[in-house]
Amino acid sequence: MSIRLDKALVHMGICTRSETKKLIRQKKIKVNGETALKAEQKIEEGSVIDVDGFACVYQDLVYLMLNKPDGVISATEGNEETVIDLIDMPVRDLFPVGRLDKDTTGLLLLSNDGPLAHMLLSPAHHVEKEYEVTLKKPVTEKDIERIASGIRDGEDTFLPAKYIPSDETHGNIILSEGKYHEIKRMFEQCHNEVIGLKRIRMKNLVLDESLAPGEYRPLTEEEITELKRPL
Ligand code: URA
Repeated sequence: MSIRLDKALVHMGICTRSETKKLIRQKKIKVNGETALKAEQKIEEGSVIDVDGFACVYQDLVYLMLNKPDGVISATEGNEETVIDLIDMPVRDLFPVGRLDKDTTGLLLLSNDGPLAHMLLSPAHHVEKEYEVTLKKPVTEKDIERIASGIRDGEDTFLPAKYIPSDETHGNIILSEGKYHEIKRMFEQCHNEVIGLKRIRMKNLVLDESLAPGEYRPLTEEEITELKRPL
């Protein structure tokens, strides 16, 4: 899809339309290496725009995989450090697709694609999420059965989930909904306590373990296609 140069720069939050005009007059904007002459000039997805020495690639929809570190909140703004603060490139309207608790680490998708976020987060779609969990006390067979048949927590009932132990206090849990503090509340109901939680998968998107906590990378074309595949 092509877009006007000034609109693209506004969309990416790099400069306003009047700033763009001024920079074009000063011959300070290049598109794919050629000096831009008009604000109305059309550019394509993937064009490299150099604005006074700052180079960026125009992309309408952005998909980033973040390895969320401990201690950062899954929000776009707030008094504390947010996952968006970790992204050092300008993307307008970027938001976390779903929330992880402040002390939960691992896979978090950041995007500006509202319809995709809706598809992944809608409770009706039961998108699978898989976490590695560390418990304070050993998990029993009875706990695993309770989790598999749907635990009640006060007014709430959690959908059946699958817990696959790797040893007495570690395992993977697969959920198909995303209620507030869901895993912590499930294990509380089993008189246990979650002491470590890391998300490793959402639908078929798997955390790239080469990303250190706090690092991110764009999704590959294949990952985007798989993520958008209807359920
Ligand atoms: N369940 C939790 O308890 N916390 C998370 O961050 C995600 C799922």
